Amino acid sequence: MGNRSTFGSKFGAITAIAGSAVGLGNIWKFPYVAGENGGAAFLIIYTVITLLISIPVLLAEFTIGRRGQSNAFRSFVNVAPHKGWAAIGILELLGAMFILSFYCVIAGWSLEYIWQSAEGGFAHMTQAQMDSQFNDFVASGWRPILWMIIFLILNAGVLCLGVSKGIERCSKFMIPALFSILVMLAGVNLWQPGFAEGAAFILEPDWSAVTGQTIIKALGQSFFSLSIGMAAMITYGSYIQRQESLVSVSVIVSLATVLMAVLAGLAIFPSVFTYHVPVTSGPDLVFKTLPPLFAELPGGYVISILFFVLLFFAALTTSLSIMESLVAFFTEELRIARAYALMIGFGLILICSTFCALSQMPDSPVMIGNLSLFDWTDSFSSNYILPIAGLGCVILVGWFVPKTVVEHELTSSGRYPLWVFKFVLFMMRFVCPVVILFMFINGIIH
Ligand code: PHE
Repeated sequence: MGNRSTFGSKFGAITAIAGSAVGLGNIWKFPYVAGENGGAAFLIIYTVITLLISIPVLLAEFTIGRRGQSNAFRSFVNVAPHKGWAAIGILELLGAMFILSFYCVIAGWSLEYIWQSAEGGFAHMTQAQMDSQFNDFVASGWRPILWMIIFLILNAGVLCLGVSKGIERCSKFMIPALFSILVMLAGVNLWQPGFAEGAAFILEPDWSAVTGQTIIKALGQSFFSLSIGMAAMITYGSYIQRQESLVSVSVIVSLATVLMAVLAGLAIFPSVFTYHVPVTSGPDLVFKTLPPLFAELPGGYVISILFFVLLFFAALTTSLSIMESLVAFFTEELRIARAYALMIGFGLILICSTFCALSQMPDSPVMIGNLSLFDWTDSFSSNYILPIAGLGCVILVGWFVPKTVVEHELTSSGRYPLWVFKFVLFMMRFVCPVVILFMFINGIIH
């Protein structure tokens, strides 16, 4: 246990954790959800909910990881009074596997689009041509799989260098680069005729659009953005050094997710409003709507490439955290060398992602109910695993882990203020469980 890896510096820890948090969810979903749900009103609600609810849940995961000093399964065994709690760890690892399976496919698409932009592929294309080009690409089957494999190899390449030399070094470069690209893209958009409308879409508060569902959406988005419930934050928590403040790391990373999402909105929506195309989110926005619009901007060729590089950086730093959770689990539980654990993780995700990619082909048999495997892994992990695991973590840390232990972790042995610990513990005990349960039931009903 003594020679377990850690992140080398606070900046390194923050970039790696922010790397996990800032992902596809921030770029293609958050700005849209914000725009549809009251713009700045949503951003305010999101920030308040994140500070009051999500951060205590994140802190529960960090506490389990840093105290447990092991992978997402073993950390539960180490901190919980009863071994049964480790079932939550298994659930989180299962969530990690599901989420990575479809994440790698999308990350592969971003590589294909970097390639296509470099070939100048999107200039003068109509929306209809773009639609059919994307559909053909996905339906080809082998091409998305090829890019997915390349993405997995890149992942493995970083992970085989280890936590500090691999993940941390990569994040220290990619997160600032991602931020700079976003600032630049938002800057270029300042000259677009639709800038004011695009900016107003996410920055003008419209309280009349806020309903009970807005709050549920903000919660779901916030949990997903902070990578809660999928083993990643327990694993990364175990790499945070003893003296670092878990609370300040959580607050900084949370605010970074909001900032990145707002910048993504400013980079994306001015074009959408300038050309009066329908506002969309998810894969449609990024892979169908945007490419021909970006190609029209001054410097469109470079902008298209940069945008997909940005998407790739966001996906890679996120997938590293998920894959690392699996690798740490295999290394420590099977007591094998990291290289072998990496091979197992690679093989496992290769199989799952291949099925996910195939499930997107027309008339694919890889369906669960009426959802393709691709959509199912996404919705099952976000709607079921995430809330159940999140609930388990706050209850465990709030009620069953000795209070002195939690205090020790949240104040980093007395280095940081006690009132913050008291407040967080109160939220973990009384508020978070009720809110998460409510969100879970609401999610099932709707
Ligand atoms: N936070 C990531 C995103 O916004 C998604 C994620 C969820 C990553 C769970 C890891 C674990 O895209």
